[in-house]
Amino acid sequence: MSITATQLIHSIPVDPLTGAISVPVYQTSTFVQEAPGVNKGYDYARTNNPTRAVLEQLLAKLENGHTGIAFSSGLAAIDAVVKLLKSGDEIIAADDIYGGAFRLFTRVYEKFGITVNYVDATSVENIFEAISHRTKLIWIETPTNPTLKIADIEAISKIARASGCLLCVDNTFATPVLQQPLLLGADIVVHSATKYLGGHSDLIAGCVITKDKALGDEIKFLQNACGAILSPFDSWLLIRGIETLPLRIKQHCNSALLIAEWLQQHPAVEKCYYPGLKNHCNHAIALKQSSGFGGIVSFALKENTEEAAHVFVTSTGLFKLAESLGGIKSLLCHPASMTHKSIPAEKRRAAGVTDSLIRLSVGLEEAEDLIADLEQAFCKLDANQKDSKPFVAASV
Ligand SMILES: Cc1ncc(COP(=O)(O)O)c(C=O)c1O
Repeated sequence: MSITATQLIHSIPVDPLTGAISVPVYQTSTFVQEAPGVNKGYDYARTNNPTRAVLEQLLAKLENGHTGIAFSSGLAAIDAVVKLLKSGDEIIAADDIYGGAFRLFTRVYEKFGITVNYVDATSVENIFEAISHRTKLIWIETPTNPTLKIADIEAISKIARASGCLLCVDNTFATPVLQQPLLLGADIVVHSATKYLGGHSDLIAGCVITKDKALGDEIKFLQNACGAILSPFDSWLLIRGIETLPLRIKQHCNSALLIAEWLQQHPAVEKCYYPGLKNHCNHAIALKQSSGFGGIVSFALKENTEEAAHVFVTSTGLFKLAESLGGIKSLLCHPASMTHKSIPAEKRRAAGVTDSLIRLSVGLEEAEDLIADLEQAFCKLDANQKDSKPFVAASV
């Protein structure tokens, strides 16, 4: 069961010292001690900080985990989980994970002897067949970016448990409001808290939540030992964002479904990707493991060219052209020339990221305003296509 809005709001404590209703920002690097080792629970702010501690307890509660650990970015959180492994270990990862995670695995960790085997995680059999005695970690993202494929967390967790390896789920797109991987059998959840948890496009943050204490202690050790902590101010900002998470997610989901249904029947759209659509290839699993389908919608144009996509993404007004997602303002991006540019074109297309694919992060504006914005962009695209058609003289 996901935490209710009431439980969430009232699990954020009133400051016991002053009664402040907003969590104080403890902007300090160190804490005065009465005698060596005798202190009020805090000694140095990399190791622990009261503002960050409130956030970390809140994160654990949100994901139904034991321990929450906050980092300075989503990638720093991912990095901490990979550091649980040692040379010679292997990761099985979904083949369309976030490009930054792919870069971290291949360009940083392969040279330390950690190998990664990429498989299509929408098929549980693929994961089962890829397991070897070296596999120590299964890494999935669900839904994935930008084609919103869904992996069956519960089925994969059974394989992980039977094989003695850990399952980590990047829950950035779904958020704990819609999906709780730890309750479905995962061992670790990570987030780019930069996205929906923060929710206002005003911070970079990440977190790890573990199901049990022992794993939590290991990640906590790495947080202190490697040092990529979240600052007190950003911890406060993230708490403030999380306070409205259930409300925001509800609105993101409602508008995204309306927009996906509208796009699906649009004559200029070849294909619309949204797990809430009945014809989405993994709709049944999405329905089984999550209570909603999120705020991201992707679509491919009938005119499948980068040029057409560029005309479209530069023609919207409310949807701002930018990387990132999950904020209150709607964003759009063209993965082939932005987020997925570093992937070779053939590999990118094979993963479903076609030349004209456009990703929308549906914000909190009125859905009808967003649809009107998309419609006028389609009109501009249509006018541009007519203008660029070679002139053929009418026969008389
Ligand atoms: C699914 C996912 N995980 C992790 C990250 C990395 O997070 P950050 O940008 O906060 O480092 C991103 C960033 O876009 C992401 O989309």
